[in-house]
Amino acid sequence: MIRRLIGVGVGPGDPDLMTLKSLSVLRSSDLILAPTTDLAEAGRAETIILSVCPDLSVTRILFEMTPGGAGIQGRRAAAERAAQSILSTGQSWQSAAFVTIGDPNVFSTFSLLAESVGGMDPEIEIESVPGIMAFQDVVAKAGIKLLDEEESFRLLTGLNVGNDLEMALSDPSSAVVIYKGGANLGRIKETAAITGRLESGWIGIKVGMSDSEVKTLADTDEDTVGYLSTLVFPPVAR
Ligand SMILES: C[S@@+](CC[C@H](N)C(=O)[O-])C[C@H]1O[C@@H](n2cnc3c(N)ncnc32)[C@H](O)[C@@H]1O
Repeated sequence: MIRRLIGVGVGPGDPDLMTLKSLSVLRSSDLILAPTTDLAEAGRAETIILSVCPDLSVTRILFEMTPGGAGIQGRRAAAERAAQSILSTGQSWQSAAFVTIGDPNVFSTFSLLAESVGGMDPEIEIESVPGIMAFQDVVAKAGIKLLDEEESFRLLTGLNVGNDLEMALSDPSSAVVIYKGGANLGRIKETAAITGRLESGWIGIKVGMSDSEVKTLADTDEDTVGYLSTLVFPPVAR
């Protein structure tokens, strides 16, 4: 019997941004898995799905989420452990849904987990259901136009701030979105100022959550903010 592991994107935080498809996959799955860094506490994705469907039964999976090169070994090891625990679960299942914030194929715990599960049992089919990403919600809340005509788009991480970011921001016809840049916000703002993009930049912090903020970079005094923050620079050559 074919078994399927499905990465389900549940959006950035606002439960209303879950898709009908994500809901129907969750409703029809035998096992719902949600990553957390502490088994005693719900992770973000679990909180989102339970606010829409409180009756779902969720199995928490312990994950290491330290970002970047520093965390990759820990994240791989955690994914292997998670894969083992999913495959050795006493519960029989044909379809297991693993929920992630945003989209499951973009900077997501699902990719490592799918690799580990596929390595341990190649017969399991890996599928995914796309989710709305944080930058889309920031763009909507900021009320800006992200792309038009022949403009291009770059999605970078802000874990290291160097030439890549300066080059991306130096192209005035490119929209630039930065994930994972909260700890380096001060340096990102400096690069934005050098490239003439500070005035048109936006930041969304914890978008879709009760304490969320979406504001212009010019209105942002902080040099560091939390991990759940996304920067958006629309093109300036229009
Ligand atoms: C590990 S990545 C997860 C990305 C996710 N898979 C997606 O498709 O949006 C974490 C980064 O996503 C962004 N992010 C996710 N949820 C967010 C939210 N609610 N508010 C602001 N940024 C968010 C931040 O840039 C954060 O550093």
